Amino acid sequence: MAQRILVVDDSPMNIKAVALALEAVGYEVIEARDGREALERAGALLPDMIILDVEMPEINGYEVCRRLRRMPAFATRPIMMLTANNALHERVQGLEAGADDYMAKPFEAEELQARVKALLRRAAPAPVAIATAQGRMIAFFSLRGGIGTSSLAANLASGLNQLWGGGKVALVDMVFTGGHSALMMNLPLRTSWSDLALKPAEEIDGEVLDQVMLSHACGLRVLPAAPRPEENEPITASKVVSVLNVLRAHYDYIVLDMPHNFNETTLAALDAADQIVLLLGPEIGSVVATTCALDVFEQLGYPADKITLVLNATFERGGLPRKDIESTLRRPLAAIIPYAGELFTSALNRGVPPVLEIPTKPLGALLEDWSFSFSTEEDAKRPVERPNPALQRVIQRLQQRRKARS
Ligand SMILES: Nc1ncnc2c1ncn2[C@@H]1O[C@H](COP(=O)(O)OP(=O)(O)OP(=O)(O)O)[C@@H](O)[C@H]1O
Ligand SMILES: [Mg+2]
Repeated sequence: MAQRILVVDDSPMNIKAVALALEAVGYEVIEARDGREALERAGALLPDMIILDVEMPEINGYEVCRRLRRMPAFATRPIMMLTANNALHERVQGLEAGADDYMAKPFEAEELQARVKALLRRAAPAPVAIATAQGRMIAFFSLRGGIGTSSLAANLASGLNQLWGGGKVALVDMVFTGGHSALMMNLPLRTSWSDLALKPAEEIDGEVLDQVMLSHACGLRVLPAAPRPEENEPITASKVVSVLNVLRAHYDYIVLDMPHNFNETTLAALDAADQIVLLLGPEIGSVVATTCALDVFEQLGYPADKITLVLNATFERGGLPRKDIESTLRRPLAAIIPYAGELFTSALNRGVPPVLEIPTKPLGALLEDWSFSFSTEEDAKRPVERPNPALQRVIQRLQQRRKARS
């Protein structure tokens, strides 16, 4: 598949000149006419490289470059600046903003082609690293609706992403009757599972998924379901398996927001998952639904340690006591998410998971620690020289709890 280059310039003539030179040697060119459009298109389409004009109204090329570099997806992708002259201060400014290279206008097509080729070759990932990666797949499931499946899946994915760095975590909407993952993260639904529905499985690779998945500013990638059930209808169980396999090879963590049923696509994803977070509320209907789900999991031959029971209190008062729930289910609850009133709902309406919005407040801290508990052993044990703020907070709270116990 052709590598994709975003060319940003307020002059259509200039875009045309760059596009002609690049398309002649097989690159696909997409364009943006100003800084705002550039940031938007870069986030949505994830081009392999970006060529930025410096002089643009509103947000100039340097500022676009700086903002791109703050997006994890563009932390290392090649960015080239096109400057109107070759002055040293322009070059310095470009490099300070995070550009990899610069070229003065007007340029020779051959030189542009050669530099683009060199930058893209340098940026190409080592194929071995990708082929051997094996991410952990965590499915959020409940036979009861409205229990917080989508909210908690979005919080865990965001939490893991904050802890372990951008670009390693994917949130995948498996609710083909019209899921909410994109909405939970306030992402415009430009692409979705429906773009994969008719593609032959053998053509779906990391690059294809890269183009279909949405990018959140925090670095989280989201594979949303199409909003209309009929658009998702052609997705088969075997398509689900192929897509999840590719995702597993490219992400460290894949969090699945599951529907409340046992249809074929659901079963394919539950089979593929390493861990199922079975959610329930503190009410009788939920306990009955959980018993039923546990029976089905047993029939399917899932090992007991594949299932983690998590209680989510979606209402404030009158819930069943923990011990009654545990004795009925004959299993312990691994975690309890407390009732958080409108905090959850207002976060949902604004599309900002509480784990990102209020990391230092009790609910945010609890969700952050809870997210940490899903870390792979490899991540949790890896020595980190300079932990990021989220990891620092988790470590600090772990130490405080240890101190309080001793
Ligand atoms: N711990 C909590 N405290 C308060 N409200 C919560 C909590 N968890 C979830 N909610 C709220 O419960 C509602 C349902 O949550 P959500 O949409 O995540 O559930 P779901 O199981 O995915 O629902 P659906 O069946 O529609 O897929 C939302 O309004 C959400 O804000
Ligand atoms: Mg949901």
